[in-house]
Amino acid sequence: MAKNIKRNIYFVGKTDPDVLDFHGHEYTTHYGTSYNSYLIKEEKTVLIDSVKNTHAREFVDNLKKEIDLEKIDFIVSNHSELDHGGAFNLLMKYIPDTPIYCSAAGINSLRGYHHSNWNLKVVKTGDRISIGNGKELFFIEAPLLHWPDSMFCYLSGDAVLFSNDAFGQHFSSDFLFNDSINEEIILDEALKYFANILAPYSKLVERKIQELQKLDLPLDMICPSHGAIWRKNPKQIINKYLEWSKSYSENQISIVYETMYNSTKVIAKNIEEGIRELKDDTAVKIFNVAEISKSDIIAEIFKSKLIFFGCPTINRRIMSNMAGLLELLIALQFKTKQAAVFGSYGWSGESLIVLEKKLRESGFLIAEDNLKIQWRPNEEARSECRQFVKELLKEK
Ligand code: FEO
Repeated sequence: MAKNIKRNIYFVGKTDPDVLDFHGHEYTTHYGTSYNSYLIKEEKTVLIDSVKNTHAREFVDNLKKEIDLEKIDFIVSNHSELDHGGAFNLLMKYIPDTPIYCSAAGINSLRGYHHSNWNLKVVKTGDRISIGNGKELFFIEAPLLHWPDSMFCYLSGDAVLFSNDAFGQHFSSDFLFNDSINEEIILDEALKYFANILAPYSKLVERKIQELQKLDLPLDMICPSHGAIWRKNPKQIINKYLEWSKSYSENQISIVYETMYNSTKVIAKNIEEGIRELKDDTAVKIFNVAEISKSDIIAEIFKSKLIFFGCPTINRRIMSNMAGLLELLIALQFKTKQAAVFGSYGWSGESLIVLEKKLRESGFLIAEDNLKIQWRPNEEARSECRQFVKELLKEK
């Protein structure tokens, strides 16, 4: 059902509390998600984005209860990925001539997804459309935040920024606003979203925020396309994005490993204990990449200043969950993070070479020292772990 969020602005999206994964199985959504679509009823009626294609029928039926679809003057597609543009396919069967405003890149993706002859109209940064009662929609292109077609639009008078994926979180609640939900969880989920989705475009994020700051628009609310609406102190999430886009880390060291017969796990645990003995003021976290979702580990790596990666050798390479994680890290290109590698082996021990190569490709600064232990770690190996940590943490 539609929910009023401010004056003549309504949430007409879909909360999806039970969804466990996003982008296929790449991203775990522990709190579900929402696909936020907004309806503005001024002299003109405007629909901003839709919902995931899988919820199209419910979306259109609910929208029909809220408004005669023919009364929608135009639609804005801030981003055409199917979790936002997916329900257009069904909606446009009812109103095929209604204009859809999108960026130039949005034309390609909307046509590519829907193979339609809809009335698509291109807008660019600075374009304005009057919607009556003295209010305007003002467009700001945001290419690669996180798709080429991404854009924001801003509603003057109400001072609301519709930012699509940027500033969003995978979170579902009937309470739509950040001030009516546990804000710590929202911020954690926003960080996970940034780390997994926006991080490769950090430079562009920084520039876009500087551009927004120069525009100096009054800002009462930021309405993203996933999760909570930023009503209380909306600038806080802009400031967080600025912080996260600049070589971010917290006082955290993480150990990420995969193991076959627990030898690499024993090394990992000894490294963890070694760090704890030396750094009682530092958060220390340990993850088995086969047991924890990669998207969660990525958020933790994003927060860490130093990460130990460990894996045994299998067929002269590394294990598949670790390989999958490293593939994602290569794409994400976190900046100025330090890494060290370790692993157990039986015959030849190439895993460390593979780990170092992939981490270098990911942009990590790799420690010269590494730790390679043959067969099952004994007491001597355990003290080697402590020594390894001691050397690495000397100046940290
Ligand atoms: Fe939420 Fe890029 O879609």
